[in-house]
Amino acid sequence: MKKQIEKLIFNTCKKLGYQIDSADVSFSKLPDICDYQSNICFALAKKVGKAPFLVAQEIVQNIQKNDDFDFVPAMPGYINIVVKNSTFSQLANQLLNDKKSGVEEQEKKLNVVMDYGGANVAKELHVGHLCSPIIGESMKRLYKLLGHNVVSDAHLGDWGLQMGLTILQLKEDGYLDYYFSGKGEEPQISFDLLNVCYPKASARKSVDPDFKKMADDFTKYIQDKQEPYFTIYKKIRAMSVKTIERLYQELGATFDVWYGESSCADTTNFIVDMFVQKGLARESEGALVVDVAREGEHIPLPKQSEDEEQRYKNPMPPAVIKKYNGADLYATTDIATIYMRNQEFNTPDEIVYFTDNRQSLHFEQVFRCCKLVGISPENQKLIHIGFGTMKGKDGKPFKTREGTTVKLEDVINLLIEKSSEKLQSNGLTPTRELALQIGIGAMKYGALSNYVSKDYVFDLDRFLCFDGKTGPYIQYMIARINSILSKSQEEIGEILVREKEEKQILVDILKLNASYYQCFQEKSMNSLCASVFDLASSFSTFYNNHKILTEQNEQKRKSYLALITLVRNVLKQALWTLGIESPERM
Ligand code: ARG
Repeated sequence: MKKQIEKLIFNTCKKLGYQIDSADVSFSKLPDICDYQSNICFALAKKVGKAPFLVAQEIVQNIQKNDDFDFVPAMPGYINIVVKNSTFSQLANQLLNDKKSGVEEQEKKLNVVMDYGGANVAKELHVGHLCSPIIGESMKRLYKLLGHNVVSDAHLGDWGLQMGLTILQLKEDGYLDYYFSGKGEEPQISFDLLNVCYPKASARKSVDPDFKKMADDFTKYIQDKQEPYFTIYKKIRAMSVKTIERLYQELGATFDVWYGESSCADTTNFIVDMFVQKGLARESEGALVVDVAREGEHIPLPKQSEDEEQRYKNPMPPAVIKKYNGADLYATTDIATIYMRNQEFNTPDEIVYFTDNRQSLHFEQVFRCCKLVGISPENQKLIHIGFGTMKGKDGKPFKTREGTTVKLEDVINLLIEKSSEKLQSNGLTPTRELALQIGIGAMKYGALSNYVSKDYVFDLDRFLCFDGKTGPYIQYMIARINSILSKSQEEIGEILVREKEEKQILVDILKLNASYYQCFQEKSMNSLCASVFDLASSFSTFYNNHKILTEQNEQKRKSYLALITLVRNVLKQALWTLGIESPERM
């Protein structure tokens, strides 16, 4: 519809001799007056030295006769466009019969890899691990909806220092005697144990250089597949992966491949050699580094420097690709993984990563390394989508009352508990599945409503409101439509748009469909969240002002039923894209 209007204006401008490249129209900010608006006349008027309103009048008088829209010049120089009811009706029926409710696939089909798992196998998942799978999953769905081909990879954190640290601490605490001295029984390594050992080791490495050195060595032994380190490593990994799989499943995050940092273990040396061969790597304090700074970006002071200000001025440190002891690092596996993805997935057009903002320097370094050495061709887009931090209601990072990080498992349980309470207070006896769908939906909508790179407040009570800009509100509207439709038993008819509220619904659907492309551009789902809410509330207004099932006029009644079916399809598709379930009833 928008394109049709733009074409009409464009052709008229050309006919009148105005030089323009395009004639963009936007949704009207005054919905009572018109549906679309063009402000093209201001620019045209300036060029030819006329009053904008006169130009608007001239264009409107010369526009090609059509049955779909009314064009009206408006002061001081707008062209207002009113879509005729018959045009809206026709469109509504088209959308109703379209599998994707009018969302058109993009012309150029992209081949994409998305990396949005990233759980580390040495520690239990915590609340900080929520955002990657939520944002990544919905971005993947958006890409798919728009016709692109996406492979998603869990990319587990399973090859770095965390593994060395954990095993060292377990050994020091006497849990690994069975492996190291053949004494006692084979230990059961659980998350409870890791939850104690990992933080302990992580704190100790910062104050105890010998410990840190030993952890580096342990990491190297694992990477060299030395025994018993490698066996212990595999055991921890297997135990962890089971839980990670379950938690991702509860979050509704799905992956096509479950690779990890370790999947490229056999290629890292070959990759590092490429840098050496091409003269791109140099030695620095025993380690191998790649200078990725460009002109004007200085090589910075060492990380521990007191002079933070100076460090800030030198924002692009070299990437370290081999440790002093020959071990691989986070950057090494990420570079090697890009190499492998290009091999296995036919050099994707884009590789997209989802982690919090704090890793943006890491990715910038990795991406630059890949471009420098030629692993990633120039036209391949390597994209890091960095998100903000989740804050508690007090504005501080979200923690337990005791000040420790909140486990992901506990967050999920809390979501289930709170949404159950909420559903019960509405007179329902929810199953765990329903409570999970509502609870997770609430949290996802809350997280995705936020512009992706900004910090956001984790406020479950607000997220779980059944009224307002929340996931449950939209789920509830869908369930309400389901219930009307199942009560009706009647075949739906043709949509005839006659009234203001019906028109508003159509405009909101058009806006919602447009927001998919905006989200794609911005790599943030907030505009879809906003427009799905607008549509749900337009439906609610319509519903409050109209009797649907008891409408006496059969044609009208059937049209209403068809219209709300369309609304349901559009809302469901939007929730699906956000990774939110639409329960049949609630
Ligand atoms: N394991 C990493 C972490 O916990 C996240 C991994 C993100 N993906 C990647 N290819 N680096 O911070």
